[in-house]
Amino acid sequence: MRVVSGIQPTGNLHLGNYLGAIRNWVLMQDNMPEGGQCLFFLADLHAISMPHDPAELHRATLEMAAALVACGIDPARSILFNQAQVPAHAELEWLLNGTARMGWLNRMTQWKDKAGKNREGQSVALFVYPVLQAADVLLYQATHVPVGEDQKQHLELARDIAQKFNNDFASADAPVFTLPEAIVPPGAARIMSLRDGSSKMSKSDPSDMSRINLVDDADLVMQKIRKARTDAEPLPSEPAGLEGRAEAANLVAIYGALTGESTEEVLGRFGGQGFGVFKPALGELLVETLRPISRRFRELLSDREQLDAILARGGAEARELARPTLDATYSALGLVRGR
Ligand code: TYM
Repeated sequence: MRVVSGIQPTGNLHLGNYLGAIRNWVLMQDNMPEGGQCLFFLADLHAISMPHDPAELHRATLEMAAALVACGIDPARSILFNQAQVPAHAELEWLLNGTARMGWLNRMTQWKDKAGKNREGQSVALFVYPVLQAADVLLYQATHVPVGEDQKQHLELARDIAQKFNNDFASADAPVFTLPEAIVPPGAARIMSLRDGSSKMSKSDPSDMSRINLVDDADLVMQKIRKARTDAEPLPSEPAGLEGRAEAANLVAIYGALTGESTEEVLGRFGGQGFGVFKPALGELLVETLRPISRRFRELLSDREQLDAILARGGAEARELARPTLDATYSALGLVRGR
């Protein structure tokens, strides 16, 4: 079992990242069978596909590393690094560009959403972004990739690229790439914005009130939940009663994801009650969950040298693991390389 996943070091780690992905990373790390391996990385190479400030990217990369460790990623058990320390990511991306098809990339919803009507004005990196993402996981022969719902399409593309490459350049009994499987959490695959139940919670939303950041203090968390958009009805007693009530459904989903309860169970307790009761309960629960994480995060941030060292060590380990697949890819393509 080889678990691989990444996160862009832009903005703060938010509740959507945590419930949709990072919590599963920690769970998989903590339950890794003998001989298995987890690799988690900061997708700093992906971050340059959008306009960015270099000093800010540098700072955000170290901060995101601290946030992951604070959430429970243990650098002694998992390989934690940033892509830029492992040139094989960019190398494999180029090699896979020969296999990926323009039509496949044109169909990616993230590309369509981010480019909008201004496709001509986007960086080439934004268009080939999913090929780099495919390289990220194929490079390590990932078997499982824990992600939120929004990354499922990119994972499908990685499988398509792997399959076409294996078909075109490898024999059936010795494929170059393993087909990775996306692992999406059932209840928290898509946490929505607190201001608009039809768009996902995201670090690119200009309103900070739309998301809970893992570093928000207790007062701010309570305030954001109090001001979260809802309707005037009390909570229903059955899940069917949440249909057409996206904002209410989102808050119930967050509550259930935090306690591990099903929607039925949460509604069993809160059905018939108004948001005046439910919101403070949710706020308290969030504060309790986030308190130890933000405390640890602040401690880690004060030691930048240690963070640098963690990423450097993870980078060295990842470079070792990447080599055989990278060599096999060059070789399958017939590229001549000296020893
Ligand atoms: P990113 O940085 O946008 O998000 C990191 C992880 O958080 C999940 N996520 C969510 N889950 C539920 N609800 C939400 N509102 C929410 N917002 C974010 C994402 O699904 C993701 O799992 N392209 C990727 C990073 C990446 C990657 C990879 C992931 C680069 N290479 C290889 C997996 C494998 C991204 O931008 O995620």
